[in-house]
Amino acid sequence: MPATATLKSTYKVAHAELKEWVNQLQAQFEPEEVYWCDGSKEEYDRLCQQLVDKGTFIRLNPEKRPNSFACFSDPSDVARVEDRTYICSRNKDDAGSTNNWVDPREMKQTLRKLMSGCMKGRTMYVIPFCMGPIGSDISQIGVEITDSEYVVVNMHIMTRVGTRVIDQLGSDGDYVKCVHTVGAPLAPGQQDVKWPCNPTVKYIVHYPEERSIVSYGSGYGGNALLGKKCFALRIASVMARDEGWLAEHMLILGVENPQGDKTYVAAAFPSACGKTNFAMLIPPKQLDGWKITTVGDDIAWIKPNKEGKLYAINPEAGYFGVAPGTNMKSNPNAMKTIERNTIFTNVGVTPDGDVWWEGMSKEVPKDIIDWHGKKWDPASGKPVAHPNARFTAPASQNPVLDSEWENPEGVPIGAIIFGGRRSTTVPLVYQAHNWAFGVYMAATMGSEMTAAAFGELGKVRRDPFAMLPFCGYNMADYFNHWLQFGRNIPNPPRIFGVNWFRKDEKGNFLWPGFGDNMRVLKWIIQKISGKSNAVESPIGWMPHYSDIDWTGLDFSVQQFDNIMSIEREQWKAELLAHAELFERMYDRLPKEFIFMRELLLSSLWRSPEKWSLEPETFDN
Ligand code: OXD
Ligand code: MN
Repeated sequence: MPATATLKSTYKVAHAELKEWVNQLQAQFEPEEVYWCDGSKEEYDRLCQQLVDKGTFIRLNPEKRPNSFACFSDPSDVARVEDRTYICSRNKDDAGSTNNWVDPREMKQTLRKLMSGCMKGRTMYVIPFCMGPIGSDISQIGVEITDSEYVVVNMHIMTRVGTRVIDQLGSDGDYVKCVHTVGAPLAPGQQDVKWPCNPTVKYIVHYPEERSIVSYGSGYGGNALLGKKCFALRIASVMARDEGWLAEHMLILGVENPQGDKTYVAAAFPSACGKTNFAMLIPPKQLDGWKITTVGDDIAWIKPNKEGKLYAINPEAGYFGVAPGTNMKSNPNAMKTIERNTIFTNVGVTPDGDVWWEGMSKEVPKDIIDWHGKKWDPASGKPVAHPNARFTAPASQNPVLDSEWENPEGVPIGAIIFGGRRSTTVPLVYQAHNWAFGVYMAATMGSEMTAAAFGELGKVRRDPFAMLPFCGYNMADYFNHWLQFGRNIPNPPRIFGVNWFRKDEKGNFLWPGFGDNMRVLKWIIQKISGKSNAVESPIGWMPHYSDIDWTGLDFSVQQFDNIMSIEREQWKAELLAHAELFERMYDRLPKEFIFMRELLLSSLWRSPEKWSLEPETFDN
């Protein structure tokens, strides 16, 4: 008898169609048993203990990390698998050139074969979950079917799970069907491994018209926790297009000024550009009285209210953050968030039962266990933690959590920021001339590759709206949706571009980043409330040197010029690259984009070869 046979949930499910669907899946997957998750703490604790007994989880030292666990994944299962991720719309053009596509009928056949009996020897868990505060008009419900206890406990942290969701669903509520299996059935008597997955076959499949998801073969992160990228971005982006809202790869933060007025800002950055750090930023001491609070660190669902004002929720309830590089300087609030009740995946484990990763401290603790579960060999040249090692922690533990983060109405969005990772060309901050230019700018944003896995190191990867791997439909249609969305609301928020990553010729970062990003945010907040000046540059509005609060930071006019100047030759190359991106989506590209590109070209041609903010300072 499997260890889970004692798990019994007692609650009643009124939703006949849901029960019928679960019965069908049970017949197809042939699990040992079916368990409906109730979302209780007792359930969470019990499953964590089960993972400990099985050897998957290591219980960390309760004095150092109370109620926390570490685990190591299979080396073949460490990150999202973009090349195995599909948007299976009926029509190939609806998936667009930036998504993998297979005819849904063909994909269903493939998966049917693969998944027959795929849960043998395992428990099939039914996880009713809500993305966003339960009862909010902006929230959505999903039901994830999985054969992974790791997924259940992570979903407990990342979403709202259990009976309260079943109650909300009632007898005929809508929900997104999310099916997940690790793709590793067990023969009778076969011993399970610590991290079951299918090391060779993986499929992460979305059916946008049906609004359903099927994930096979991986137990890791966004491949397996289907509420996150699969639902809250890929499927939700399709819902948002059809229903007139936005599902975005954006953090949401509150900025409070010394008078206590708060403005909420949504910001999109590509993966691995420090979103969690920005969402929990601590302003420098010298900017006395300014405060940052977090609503969300990864995803924003944004809807206009009756008056056309935009309100946003964070659909998630926890953080699935990248651990390496997180430390008391880069993000003290994240370090406090993960002090307890946290699941760590692929980090190092110290002999005294704590965790460690590259960048946590200068010294590597002695006799550490690496993410392969082996004693780390300092001579190996290999990292202790996997570069994509993660923590899963409840948002409620964030010391700077915004008081309104669970407001069912959402929070009003005052500005939208887009940021790429560019060592040249793009200035520290600028404001788009208008909504349409903002959309153009977001559509063409790029990131220099930092991990060879994504391609040639240093090459710019265009990542429109930071949504390249997350848009559930044709990216050109997505641009059109954004343009139309802006036309439909009376006074859309102002759009800003930022780039924290510009470097000098020697490769040194020009901007200190971290808490000092507050200086840029302060200008943005003052600009949208009409309290700051700006200069018109060839690409948008920019602050003068004197518009930024430099208190406590030694940053000269010259340094500011280095990080703000616009060089014509660089922008020529930039605009050529935009044209390349547009060619890939030409058939459905908004026609406005062609004109906006022309406008940008002509304004660059009318400006000096190197456009500077403070020409008077350099002339004399
Ligand atoms: C993430 C990502 O994990 O964007 O949030 O890749
Ligand atoms: Mn993300």
